[in-house]
Amino acid sequence: MTNRFTHHVTAVALLSGLGIVLVAGQPATAPPVFTSEQAAQGRAAYDANCASCHVADLGGRNEAPQLAGSGFINTWRNRTTRDLFELIVATMPPGGPALAPEQYTSIVTYILQQNGAAAGAQALTAAAAVPIGTIASGERPPAAQTAAAAGSAVPGGRGQGPGGAGTSPSNAAAVGGGPGRGAQAPVARGLTVSGEVKDYVPVTVAMLRNPPPGDWLMARRTYQAWSYSPLSDITRDNVKDLRLAWAWSMNEGGANQPMPLVHDGIIYLFNTGNVIQALDGPTGELIWENEVGPIQQVGFGSMRNIAIYEDKIIFATTDARLVALDARNGTKVWETVIADRARGYANTSGPIVARGKVIQGLQGCSRYGEDRCFISAYDAATGKQLWKFYTIAQAGEPGGDTWGKLPDNFRKGGETWIAGSYDPDLNLTYWGIAQAKPWMPASRGNSVFDAALYAASTVALNADDGKLAWHFQHIPGESLDLDEVYERVLVDNGGGKYLFNIGKSGILWKLDRRDGKFVGAAETVYQNVYDRIDLKTGLVTYRNDIIEAKVEQWVQSCPSTEGGHNWQAMSYHQPTNALIIPLSQSCMEISGRKTDLKDGAGGTNADRKFFEMPGSDGNIGKLAAYDAATLKELWSVEQRAPFLTAVLSTAGGVAFVGDLDRTFRAVDTRTGATLWKTRLGTSVQGYPVSFTAGGKQYVAVTTGLGGGSPRVVPRTIAPEIHHPNSGHTLYVFELPDRR
Ligand code: HEC
Repeated sequence: MTNRFTHHVTAVALLSGLGIVLVAGQPATAPPVFTSEQAAQGRAAYDANCASCHVADLGGRNEAPQLAGSGFINTWRNRTTRDLFELIVATMPPGGPALAPEQYTSIVTYILQQNGAAAGAQALTAAAAVPIGTIASGERPPAAQTAAAAGSAVPGGRGQGPGGAGTSPSNAAAVGGGPGRGAQAPVARGLTVSGEVKDYVPVTVAMLRNPPPGDWLMARRTYQAWSYSPLSDITRDNVKDLRLAWAWSMNEGGANQPMPLVHDGIIYLFNTGNVIQALDGPTGELIWENEVGPIQQVGFGSMRNIAIYEDKIIFATTDARLVALDARNGTKVWETVIADRARGYANTSGPIVARGKVIQGLQGCSRYGEDRCFISAYDAATGKQLWKFYTIAQAGEPGGDTWGKLPDNFRKGGETWIAGSYDPDLNLTYWGIAQAKPWMPASRGNSVFDAALYAASTVALNADDGKLAWHFQHIPGESLDLDEVYERVLVDNGGGKYLFNIGKSGILWKLDRRDGKFVGAAETVYQNVYDRIDLKTGLVTYRNDIIEAKVEQWVQSCPSTEGGHNWQAMSYHQPTNALIIPLSQSCMEISGRKTDLKDGAGGTNADRKFFEMPGSDGNIGKLAAYDAATLKELWSVEQRAPFLTAVLSTAGGVAFVGDLDRTFRAVDTRTGATLWKTRLGTSVQGYPVSFTAGGKQYVAVTTGLGGGSPRVVPRTIAPEIHHPNSGHTLYVFELPDRR
């Protein structure tokens, strides 16, 4: 995989470095170069292996670009069918098993057909190098041949052609379904294991507000998002004795990044493919399982948190539905659609529940059109939608004048892909809002001086009606995909009520969470994108060449889109008043693509090349603690491998974190010094949690593969770090029994 990825970066760099002059509306006149049989086979292979990210209609979703339409033809017009074939062979599907050469060829023909190229008598070969602009216009073909038209797909797809180099039986199976799932698109089976959680105690509003010490009832454990456990049986002194209690293999495929929930010693676990399980904490025995689906991967296919309230487990699915299961037996209670999956909407994080309302974010909001991104709330008892807050301001609305002259259809982004936090006293829920799309202002069709609300902001919403109480925009006119979407951590100290967050720029922000006033900021890793950060107002000023960047102009950015900080959440360690934060050190060059203002286009639309951060000594991973009162760095440790889990800190003075290089470790919360470590089956990825079952303290963590920049960047700049390409597992650790 490493080689395929290294190659990929080169391929993208080549493609973007050509500086091609684009000729709009150039007629596509050359004779046909593929057959309709090839395109039909290509469609089946595309649906099975590519549609999960690039979407069935080839419209793309977030980082996976559009593969049909004006966005595609702008990039590919002056390149050849062979260039397209070679890029796909070298890089797609990312991190997944390679397909057979003839499958790749047929996928290329399907892409050409969906861009208006006509089929004929001659079959396309891998060696053919026909300029794409001479056969394809970027105009979609008549409805009968479009991806959306039903019934024309070649069924199955097993045994297409002889197995060439790189083919394996599982690749053949993958033609018709997800990897290893047989020839037909797999259908979720619902309740697959029946069982009953004994003596189930419903989770009340009071319990969510003040969780029992041994429970982990929501994203990051408390409404304040501390990722902190008050349990203290595991201490600095005895953590060295920690040992495996049991392990549980999880579904493979997709990105595994879950945070288990624990209530009364029962673990509720989300597997990729939208499969939910209840496991007995002390023994690892399966109690019930519900295959809610879709089993097929959607996007990267991760789901970072689920929720529990009264007698229900409530979660989002990767295809943007919200589902409630009976926590006792796993049967479905209600289901509701958050947004239309066919338009690329998705979810990668679940809800929080506040005063009986299920509050949920949304992902995949980069495609041009009338619809837009929102946060929404639902009645926990019925799933009925109660309110919506649109994260993108349209003309005539407050903030609507911050997008320049862009018509409403072309104001995109504003995703909420990390669950928010909540202050029950103020009754405000706090959410980080993702950047505007496309990533760079020149691609968006406005400038860095167009703030683009509420992108790159914190919003505080009234939990009852979703009304905006205040907003603070961290990066007005965000221009480099340096996202600020992550966790909002709520801390009271010295009489103040604060909110902390940190985004990809690596700036740790401190706000007054009553009114959103800026309190302070601190830089945590090297950055070179802001010439100035005003520590009185919080205003950042971009470097001049970033302000002036045009499409197809490379600019340098430290950090890269891996982020100084990403989804791996920090922990607030209350006893030392310290924020312990997983950080990353890498840089990039980024160049925006030209984007046509046309419904269906959009996307993130930029090319990137990654490199080591100057001064980091090749250490991508950094773990550091900051004083919540002064924002001063208390300690930091660095290592080659990036940290891929959130931090869990505990009252025992121990914090836990895992990394790409398979190490799960416990560090001293006062110094960051490693107190204990163990090596797991593959990269450690997800959210460690601590809980009690049968009176005993446990620590649980998952291994996982897959994901966006936090995986892609180290694959290109630290390719010597190897890990197995399977091994999604839940590991549960304990201290030996006292004699
Ligand atoms: C897990 C998600 C995922 C899957 C599955 C996937 N892709 Fe991609 N694809 C991406 C991402 C992300 C990019 C952007 C890569 C980058 O910018 O470095 C991309 C880029 C591309 C590009 C380059 C487009 C451009 O204009 O730059 C092509 C072509 C492509 N993919 C084709 C495919 C094909 C064909 C398949 C199936 C065989 C596939 N992809 C499967 C995520 C995916």
